[in-house]
Amino acid sequence: MTRSPVTVTVTGAAGQIGYALLFRIASGQLIGPDTPINLRLLEIPQAVKAAEGTAMELTDCAFPLLRSIEVTDDTRRAFEGTNIALLVGARPRTQGMERGDLLEANGGIFKPQGEAINANAADDVRVLVVGNPANTNALIAQAHAPDVPAERFTAMTRLDHNRALAQLAIKLGVGVDEIRRLAIWGNHSATQYPDLFHAEVGGKIAAEQVERQWMSDEFIPTVAKRGAAIIEARGASSAASAANAAIDHVHTWVNGTAEGDWTSAGVVSDGSYGVPEGLISSFPVTARDGRYEIVRGLDIDEFSRPRIDASVQELVDERETVRGLGLV
Ligand code: NAD
Ligand code: LMR
Repeated sequence: MTRSPVTVTVTGAAGQIGYALLFRIASGQLIGPDTPINLRLLEIPQAVKAAEGTAMELTDCAFPLLRSIEVTDDTRRAFEGTNIALLVGARPRTQGMERGDLLEANGGIFKPQGEAINANAADDVRVLVVGNPANTNALIAQAHAPDVPAERFTAMTRLDHNRALAQLAIKLGVGVDEIRRLAIWGNHSATQYPDLFHAEVGGKIAAEQVERQWMSDEFIPTVAKRGAAIIEARGASSAASAANAAIDHVHTWVNGTAEGDWTSAGVVSDGSYGVPEGLISSFPVTARDGRYEIVRGLDIDEFSRPRIDASVQELVDERETVRGLGLV
């Protein structure tokens, strides 16, 4: 059965993640094989021509589900009637830029995008922020969309989740599909905490199947610093794996998690696990009926507590900085 078309807006469409993402969206991998897609590509004026080139290639694929493509540099138009907004375009950190400068520059992007989503998007809009610093950019956009339920704004930590799954699978010599209930906590940054104390492999807790030293000295830093390692190796930040994680994040949000399993996403905190209310932090989450829900009632052991707290503190500090700039 063919469903109603869904309008998907991608910002930063001419960038490297955009190029790895758009063809997968148009082929039906974002939502499912029965849902036609209208694509809106938002770029800055200097990159509109490049985005138009990508749009030509998308046309040339003759994807059966792709109903329309529109390229624009008008933020309001880009989010008109949008059901799914993928906020990928962001201001990268350049030499000499302090963290505060980066947050301020991104505030100039995510504040007007939040306002445009508030004014123009569809009632059921769901927003995924990929552009870094993703959690705080999501917070800024959400703060400027008071009419959209806060839970519809999310930040991407699915790439971290997938990286952690892959590293654990390699260590234990199992397939990634044999791992359940892994979780990333905190910020999409080097302070994030990939948690193996609830993860299960073959029905047994993963943390009990690996050496504690491997976990603290290899697993956690490898996952948390993987983004930097990719930049070092490729000379550019991760693109196809980031696009893949964005597809996973939205697909799970719309279609749900498997019974008894969960995933990781940056979602608005309700105060669970001591994470201050309103912060957009990564948690273990399930998805059901089109909503992400924080997994409740997990015991947090002594190894995990200070690591979660440190990453959450970084988010608190980022929120203080953007508050000081009048951005939230
Ligand atoms: P890129 O530089 O190749 O592309 C970014 C694009 O965004 C550019 O084409 C630029 O013109 C556009 N852009 C800038 N400001 C814009 C605006 N106001 N509106 C619309 N478009 C705008 O970068 P990329 O490699 O595609 O990465 C994009 C972002 O994703 C970066 O911030 C990167 O750090 C981040 N990222 C996040 C994760 C994650 O796991 N959350 C992973 C990888 C990369
Ligand atoms: C990643 O995790 O690969 C990126 O967030 C790295 C970056 O700084 O763009």
